[in-house]
Amino acid sequence: MARKIIIDTDPGQDDAVAILLALASPELDVLGLSVVAGNVPLALTELNARKICELAGRADLPVYAGCDAPLMRKLVTAEEVHGKSGLDGVELPAPVMQLQPQHAVDFIIDTLRREPPKTVSLVPVGPLTNIATAFDRAPDIIERVQEIVLMGGAYFEVGNITPAAEFNIFVDPEAADIVFRSGADLTVVPLDVTHQALTSRDWVETMRKLGPLGQAVASWTDFFERYDTAKYGSQGAPLHDPCTIAYLLQPELFTGRFINVVIETGGAFTTGMTVADWWRVTDRPANANFLRTIDRDSFYALLTDRLTALDARLRG
Ligand code: BDR
Ligand code: CA
Repeated sequence: MARKIIIDTDPGQDDAVAILLALASPELDVLGLSVVAGNVPLALTELNARKICELAGRADLPVYAGCDAPLMRKLVTAEEVHGKSGLDGVELPAPVMQLQPQHAVDFIIDTLRREPPKTVSLVPVGPLTNIATAFDRAPDIIERVQEIVLMGGAYFEVGNITPAAEFNIFVDPEAADIVFRSGADLTVVPLDVTHQALTSRDWVETMRKLGPLGQAVASWTDFFERYDTAKYGSQGAPLHDPCTIAYLLQPELFTGRFINVVIETGGAFTTGMTVADWWRVTDRPANANFLRTIDRDSFYALLTDRLTALDARLRG
């Protein structure tokens, strides 16, 4: 039976590829997208989520708008990475499908209460505001979560938005703190992993040769590659968020350690840092499977395989 997941997202070109990979994978049953403010404000992230669903031929997939600001802070966005729309690189048609009337936090709570315990996993690939709000409001759902697999944080690579912090955690550290302390089964895909998952020219050109779906993926990658290559001097750009979906599909592509990870919420310079006890130098109990490596070539082979199949299906 396909594994049930909710993707909590702030699209975002790499969020978009994560959503497409999930929708292209028969092993996963995406129950809905819960959308949060992050890369750009909520009005744009929810619009982008609907555009991505329609690009994937899934106008039927419910999309819920969630929190429009972090729990205690002003929203920090990342237009310099993702463009003004959050999804720059290709012009997609205005979506016809409607947003669901229910708030994303209520969708998360209701779904976890309705489905049998430990049968729904959460895949957050943006700031953790929706998930933390749901846990705060309905603590009974925490033990019903099968697994959380999130993109966020960094240890060896340290920060991308500040010298110490990764963007998703930095935007809402109080929310991240709630999730990391929740006791839920947690796997973390940090920058340490995603910075190994760099696109190659060959892969982008393979995508471009497909139909509209592949062409969108190629154009999105071209767009955000410009930022990352200038910043890191690397060839290619990290496809952060799809690593979470790849982990659900093929966990053997990753290595990591079950360790203690706490979130810095009050640092003078380090707010949003994921303080990962990689070397187990404290006696703080382990709370996260903190990933460290990815088999990059197999990851891109998986993406190519699944996106090519979805693209072909859409073209009939
Ligand atoms: C994370 O921040 C966003 O800009 C990306 O979509 C990803 O989720 C990487 O730090
Ligand atoms: Ca994201």
